[in-house]
Amino acid sequence: MKIAFFSTKSYDKTFFEAVNHETGDCHVLTFLEPGLSPATATLATGQDAVCAFVNDNLGGPTLENLVGLGIRTVALRSAGFNHVDLVAAERLGITVVRVPAYSPYAVAEHTIALLLSLDRNIHRAHARVREGNFSLEGLMGFDLHGKVAGIVGTGVIGLCVARILAGFGMQILVSDPVRNPEVEKLGARYVPLETLMAEADVITLHCPLTPATRHLIDAAAIARMKPGVTILNTSRGAVIDAPAVIAGLKSGKIGHLGLDVYEEEGDLFFRDLSDQVSQDDVFARLTTFPNVLITGHQAFFTREALSGIARVTLENLSELEKTGLCRNTVAAASHHK
Ligand code: NAI
Repeated sequence: MKIAFFSTKSYDKTFFEAVNHETGDCHVLTFLEPGLSPATATLATGQDAVCAFVNDNLGGPTLENLVGLGIRTVALRSAGFNHVDLVAAERLGITVVRVPAYSPYAVAEHTIALLLSLDRNIHRAHARVREGNFSLEGLMGFDLHGKVAGIVGTGVIGLCVARILAGFGMQILVSDPVRNPEVEKLGARYVPLETLMAEADVITLHCPLTPATRHLIDAAAIARMKPGVTILNTSRGAVIDAPAVIAGLKSGKIGHLGLDVYEEEGDLFFRDLSDQVSQDDVFARLTTFPNVLITGHQAFFTREALSGIARVTLENLSELEKTGLCRNTVAAASHHK
């Protein structure tokens, strides 16, 4: 297939070219820097498929423009598919495939990196030591052992996180409409979301973004939480209502916040904006708290994950080319999952 890659970075090119070469150069890859949008869709003229990433625009107008070019295959190089208008895709006869699982360890381990850094103030200690300040004032942490972790979403990533936290000796509460027996084997207890919110010392989000999970962490949810709670979000930004979380941080209700995703990240992440004046006041405020640690959607960013993403994406397209079907097709009904 001839595939146009949007939002391409150097690492995408490296991993996709390597995997394509290993598998006999079956596909012709074109790497484009711009993100996919109604205006840039035309860059895919002459291609059979487009490959998109998490902040590409896959709304109805973009999909219509792709169909206008004769393109009816969209390969997501991500697990999440909340940015695709699946109803429009179905109406237009577009097949959307994704990478349901590559390295859940990458995301789980990054979540734990945020947790340990926040808990033990590693980010602040690092800055102090570099300046010759060896004072421990303000750096006191807390033991995770014996504390209660609340995991929202016990799919592949939630399970990995549960295993690591169980290893720390934490008690684990979980919430998910679908039970995962592997999580229960760890001694984790399924509880209603309200119970998890009220009892957990550390709340970590591993559910997809759906209408049901949008702003799951809002002012009402924060009001139910334990004082000093730690909240971690490596799922999708809009699962958290950022202004509500800022209010929670200002009042001291939220003790620590670790984010790898942000609702309006599409205007910020994956590029160097260091010489520009910040236009996002909510994000700017978040960066001012000493007890907030933010990374720019890099939880997936390991060698193993990138290699897995490239392999599964190209396999998806080969499968579609040969059989017209692909086991990793995203169904329109998934939208309401
Ligand atoms: P998964 O599909 O294996 O698991 C998601 C789980 O969430 C499922 O068990 C599902 O039943 C559950 N869920 C759905 N609605 C829920 C609700 N209302 N409350 C509680 N649980 C609910 O997905 P996986 O691979 O574990 O990924 C989870 C999310 O992590 C993805 O949807 C994606 O948004 C995000 N992600 C973030 C990455 C990053 O780099 N920061 C990389 C990969 C995924």
